[in-house]
Amino acid sequence: MSVITKDKTATEFSSTLVQFIEEWKDKPGSLIMILHRLQQEFGFLPRPAIIQLSQMLQLPLAKIYGVVTFYHYFKLTKPGRNNIQVCMGTACYLKGGEDIIHELENLLGIHLNQVSDDGEFSFESVRCVGCCGLAPVAVCGTEVFGKLVPDKLPEVLAKLKSN
Ligand code: FES
Repeated sequence: MSVITKDKTATEFSSTLVQFIEEWKDKPGSLIMILHRLQQEFGFLPRPAIIQLSQMLQLPLAKIYGVVTFYHYFKLTKPGRNNIQVCMGTACYLKGGEDIIHELENLLGIHLNQVSDDGEFSFESVRCVGCCGLAPVAVCGTEVFGKLVPDKLPEVLAKLKSN
């Protein structure tokens, strides 16, 4: 799972990213993998980075955007410093995942896929994250919060904010 560690200028591709793109760009079917690597670099897919990628791959911008907007995984806007992934897989949904989302909306004053005014938080709904025994679950970076109840969320947000 990727964590955003730095705020980078969108067009500043690291040498390892450039090397990765050069290595894969001529191999058929590699666009999605390259986009994943690009999103790992920036935490989302900034427009200038997509433009730069389209030049490097010699692919029309529209084709890249077609792929990016088709898959829910790709983000076109910068997430909060803490992007909370609320699991809405079957087990978590049945154990109150929706209540977690509603309480995050109340506490943060934002909806799914929006960013709080201070840039600290965003949250999204994801499918099973693989620890159904702890349902309902939310994940932020490498931290997993299991058996969540809405009343626990202020504590979770305070902890994340202080990190
Ligand atoms: S359904 Fe949420 S962790 Fe599996």
